[in-house]
Amino acid sequence: MGTRALVMAAYLLLPLPLAAQETDNENPAGKVVYDRWCAGCHGTDGRGEGPGALTMLPRPRDFTRALYQVRTTGSGELPTDDDIMHVINVGMPGTAMPGWEDLLSSQEREDLVTYLKSMSRFFNSSPPPAQLEFSNAPRVSDDRIAEGAEIYEQVECSKCHGRSGRADGPSAPTQKDDSDLPIYPANLTQNWRFNGGGTVEDIYRVLRTGLDGTPMPTFSDLIDAGVITDDQLWNLAHYVRSLSPEESPRIREVITAANVGDGEGGLPTSPTDERWETVDKFYIPLVGQIVVKPRWFNPRVQNLWVQALHDSADVAMLVSWSDPSRSPNEEWAPFAQQIVEAMGPKDEGSTWAPGAPDQLVVQFPLTLPTGMERPYFLQGDARRPAYLWSWRSDHDRAVEMVARGLGTGQEQPASSQQVSAEAAWADGEWRVLFRRSLATPDSTSDLQMPRATVVPVAFQAWDGNNGEAGNQAAVSTWYFLALEEPVPVTVLITPLAAFLLTAVLGLVVVTRAQRREKEIPGRN
Ligand code: HEC
Ligand code: HEC
Repeated sequence: MGTRALVMAAYLLLPLPLAAQETDNENPAGKVVYDRWCAGCHGTDGRGEGPGALTMLPRPRDFTRALYQVRTTGSGELPTDDDIMHVINVGMPGTAMPGWEDLLSSQEREDLVTYLKSMSRFFNSSPPPAQLEFSNAPRVSDDRIAEGAEIYEQVECSKCHGRSGRADGPSAPTQKDDSDLPIYPANLTQNWRFNGGGTVEDIYRVLRTGLDGTPMPTFSDLIDAGVITDDQLWNLAHYVRSLSPEESPRIREVITAANVGDGEGGLPTSPTDERWETVDKFYIPLVGQIVVKPRWFNPRVQNLWVQALHDSADVAMLVSWSDPSRSPNEEWAPFAQQIVEAMGPKDEGSTWAPGAPDQLVVQFPLTLPTGMERPYFLQGDARRPAYLWSWRSDHDRAVEMVARGLGTGQEQPASSQQVSAEAAWADGEWRVLFRRSLATPDSTSDLQMPRATVVPVAFQAWDGNNGEAGNQAAVSTWYFLALEEPVPVTVLITPLAAFLLTAVLGLVVVTRAQRREKEIPGRN
């Protein structure tokens, strides 16, 4: 289950116009489809102010302004019909805008293109847009990537995107889109979230056309002015592409912790120990916590990476994730304030205040489940408590807690704390290393991890400089941590994982049904 599936699920929580109307002259075919599928976000009048709009950053597009980002035409130009069709088909990765290719027929999608264009007079009053001439991608090479890296510094991409591309440049905390809403530069190490697509051709195209309405400039004029050549722009695109993994990360339900035995210096004791480079990395996508109020639709920590090892006595778990700033941070406080204002529906009540730290929670059940049962994925409940390792950037240590519901965690007394953590922040990335003995003397309030077991584990993350605190966090579903012995335990897992996914999807559907019941009182 990808993040986008959950975004889609979140969208379905929104009250939608119920019945589709009949088609006639007043109701062109595109309008019927639009009102059913698009108006919830983009608004019936196309101004981008549908019932769900305030929960989204960037906001849904206002079609009356004819401003399109994913184009093959010059900066400030209208898109071609094919451009609009393309974005309707595949959506805009990294935003709330889903793709519709599988859901709507090609006739319906064509009707939508016509209908969207009818919402702005610009399409009638301007000559048809001319597609830019794009050269073909030259074959990638180390030399090209190296030259691209130099151009990246030369034309100051790093001012916004940061030296490492993790959106941590000095100008990042001041960026706004043309609706005056705060906007982050893209994290260039995650090309699968680029709005216009993640291939080198997509990146080159965005560099030629810019992303209208955002601070992301076009670099076509640098070519026209002879500052860089077209070939150099391709090298830059290859360099940007090289910052992300070759393939988009796959989700694996089982995080394996290999047994390092007593050899080779035992477990790494630092989050920056270079031995971590050789340990398998597991990708965990997160989504905003949208079940318990105050909900959070704009999580900054979109995903994290987990690595784990054990030596039969202790387990070591390294969690790393992109975060452009170490919270709290005065330079970012005004940005966080703007995010809170942009995201805060009045009934919800943010608990964020300046000075909020970054936080990470690693969640386990308090006791190992015997069958398929696990605690509720948001820190358990009265019947099945969760056992947490909770780390905060302002304390720079981790504590053990037992929770019976989101935010109810009780810190265990200092004398019985068993977990230790060491954190490092550099170049827009946190790395937090947790360590605990597998068995502890305190079996009533600590999860015991016998050897060769499989332990359910989940994650929650907060970026203080993104206005996150309390319930307003990014959360994952349950995964499994497998403490490996020479006999692989992974064989046992697949049925458990399948069950788990079904359970979570079930939850989303149930919540949605309950909300709709509540929100449509007039229905009979
Ligand atoms: C869940 C909310 C949501 C739904 C449903 C949705 N959109 Fe969007 N859409 C967005 C958001 C948010 C953006 C702006 C993203 C950005 O600016 O980065 C967007 C942008 C767009 C764009 C602008 C593309 C560009 O190049 O800038 C088009 C076109 C579009 N949507 C068409 C549609 C159509 C057609 C439908 C219905 C079939 C639809 N959308 C349904 C949220 C939604
Ligand atoms: C003034 C700040 C700024 C500068 C300078 C800048 N960018 Fe961006 N860039 C942004 C912002 C903001 C976004 C995100 C726009 C959005 O989310 O819609 C972005 C998005 C991107 C994306 C993602 C495109 C997509 O499809 O979502 C890429 C790739 C990118 N920039 C590359 C570059 C490169 C390479 C340079 C230097 C040549 C550069 N940027 C210079 C602000 C900047």
